[in-house]
Amino acid sequence: MRYLTAGESHGPQLTTIIEGVPAGLTLLAEHINEELARRQKGYGRGRRMQIEKDEVKILSGVRHGKTLGSPITLVVENRDWKHWTNIMGIEPLASDTEEVKRKVTRPRPGHADLNGAIKYGHRDMRNVLERSSARETTVRVAAGAVAKRILSELGIRIASHVVEIGGVKAENTAYTSLEELQRVTEQSPVRCFDAEAEKKMMAAIDEAKEKGDSIGGIVEVIVEGVPVGVGSYVHYDRKLDAKIAAAIVSINAFKGVEFGIGFEAARRFGSEVHDEIIWSKETGYTRKTNRLGGFEGGMTTGMPIVVRGVMKPIPTLYKPLMSVDIETKEPFAASIERSDSCAVPAASVVAEAVVAWEVANAIVEQFGQDRIDLIIENVENMRRYAKEF
Ligand SMILES: Cc1cc2nc3c(=O)[nH]c(=O)nc-3n(C[C@H](O)[C@H](O)[C@H](O)COP(=O)(O)O)c2cc1C
Repeated sequence: MRYLTAGESHGPQLTTIIEGVPAGLTLLAEHINEELARRQKGYGRGRRMQIEKDEVKILSGVRHGKTLGSPITLVVENRDWKHWTNIMGIEPLASDTEEVKRKVTRPRPGHADLNGAIKYGHRDMRNVLERSSARETTVRVAAGAVAKRILSELGIRIASHVVEIGGVKAENTAYTSLEELQRVTEQSPVRCFDAEAEKKMMAAIDEAKEKGDSIGGIVEVIVEGVPVGVGSYVHYDRKLDAKIAAAIVSINAFKGVEFGIGFEAARRFGSEVHDEIIWSKETGYTRKTNRLGGFEGGMTTGMPIVVRGVMKPIPTLYKPLMSVDIETKEPFAASIERSDSCAVPAASVVAEAVVAWEVANAIVEQFGQDRIDLIIENVENMRRYAKEF
């Protein structure tokens, strides 16, 4: 499977075309809208999330609630577009028009503004920031929702939660099941399982906001029920952990990724890192622990995939950072119109979506059929085979 996204942050709409989704999969707008709504929530979001109530239109590839195997087009309109029709208009405007003269010439530190302007030769950095904006993650979440439908048909469960914001760590992450984790985090304004940490995280966001600053954090995605051997060791671009890592770091503002105990592995003996293999008639091969987060040799072990991503603090700050105007070359303090002070909770939903996509894509590729029913059959066969091996 593959997908492209298109659309500017204040353009008429965001679009994704998804190709290769197997036929016969139940897919309704509500499956996607549910995920879009999850992305829009979260303590610390700015005003835009209140303006926009994202809703998907499915424009191709689905008939009577089932996928056809043909490309699926998903569109999310920008409700704010009516205020931007001139600024973001497609048709040319006279050069003395206010909207043409009003250029963005002041690059914001931490954004794509300056590098993008130099690279594409734009003297108006609106031409960069409109596309580099994290608004694009809306349709990545939509594509992830389709992937989640595939995973669900295969009995694969996925969840995400926030484990750190602004230095406040979730100490209690002892959930008994993914269902419990989901239930608790969906109710939490910061998508955190630990109620004590939740309060402290919200206080940290308030404090940052008061100071005109922003804070980042760490999100975790867990995938359960993936069969053994998804991905491959035989070639670098078939390693599923590598694909997931790339997907996480491709999310706006994500700067790092780790699996299982992650960077902690550098500080431990090998005997405290690797997971001992055990066997029983009921479960087949499993591991005593899951410190490696579900991967050995670029392939799934059958243990839960546990992946964390680090989000930097949002770069647009009310407390301005210094930059340089590209017209005058004069220094200035970068000021802003509106911004989130913390988007880590929303970003955890985006992380969940991109991981869902990578896992579903690897499965469709590996157990490849054009029909969901045959993919289900193949995955079931693999599960049986692994158990009897
Ligand atoms: C869900 C989400 C919401 C974001 N909201 C904002 C925002 O309101 N203001 C902002 O300056 N950056 C925001 N960002 C981060 C920027 O989009 C990102 O830092 C920027 O595009 C530069 O890319 P880079 O940080 O990956 O280098 C958000 C990121 C995500 C994932």
